[in-house]
Amino acid sequence: MQQTIATALETQFEKDVYQGLTEYPKYLSSQYFYDAKGDKLFQDIMNMPEYYLTDREFEILSDNTAEIAKLFARGNASFKLLELGAGDGKKTKILLNYLSKNNFKFKYHPIDISQNALDGLEASLLKELPEVLVETRQGTYFETLEEINAENGTHKIILFLGSNIGNLLHSQAIAFLKSVQELMQEDDLLFVGFDMKKNPEIILDAYNDASGITAAFNKNILARINTELDANFDLDKFRHWEVYDPETGTAKSFLVSKENQTVTLQKLDLQVHFTAWETIHTEISQKYDDRTIAWLADKSGLDIVTEFSDANAHYKNYVFRTK
Ligand code: AVI
Repeated sequence: MQQTIATALETQFEKDVYQGLTEYPKYLSSQYFYDAKGDKLFQDIMNMPEYYLTDREFEILSDNTAEIAKLFARGNASFKLLELGAGDGKKTKILLNYLSKNNFKFKYHPIDISQNALDGLEASLLKELPEVLVETRQGTYFETLEEINAENGTHKIILFLGSNIGNLLHSQAIAFLKSVQELMQEDDLLFVGFDMKKNPEIILDAYNDASGITAAFNKNILARINTELDANFDLDKFRHWEVYDPETGTAKSFLVSKENQTVTLQKLDLQVHFTAWETIHTEISQKYDDRTIAWLADKSGLDIVTEFSDANAHYKNYVFRTK
């Protein structure tokens, strides 16, 4: 039965939603939070006082700009600055501003799956930092990295900021880092943002804000399914729930059904039954310690070059090179 229907599914989104909602326990991938509304809600999250991650990474980049720039340029060589999942580039602009004002020779390549996000970033850079050479690349991280790698010339610096790595399980993070490592040459560097383990209360508050923005962000996946897959999820019948395990460092987001209910997804020809308090697991936001980061690097064929921390070691940026 599942087989017959599954073959009729067209897009990856359709396949993944079908798969996740017909499994037990149910799950959906957090990559599907980000439609136009999800992008906006994530911007709002980054501006919330509870969501410390953005401010801490901003602090690290602001406090260490000159040292980071020197590291990237390896003397005075020209380089390519690639950013995976560039978003609005708010934090990267600190670096771009410094690099251009101090006559570093570089070209900025933001990489994103969303052309819309890239267009917005390019327009804002043209306005705020017109002297920076920008060449956007639309596509998946690896397609684009491969393309760039094939062009010879200058060394490359790959940025992966915002603790985006935290949305991957350790096994996925290793697979991801390994794939990047395979595309790195001797002089290339990988610069990654990691949210660190800390007082569990601070972490829970960041994903459980009083204003309900994170709840709306989490529920947006259901709204998106309603719009794109002709479904009838009633968002009020689900609640956002966050847990954090201080031992593993994993924060997990769930949507919990408040009652017995059946939801129809017309486009998938699917009815999904929920018993009261049944869960849909939607996201992990992994928190790290230095030991785990060293283990991830080792498993991925990377050496640690250096690390930058905020004043309280709540957040760190690690620099890696290929072994
Ligand atoms: C994009 N990512 C690193 C965010 C995080 O912290 O896991 C997404 C997010 N989810 C809830 N709030 C923010």
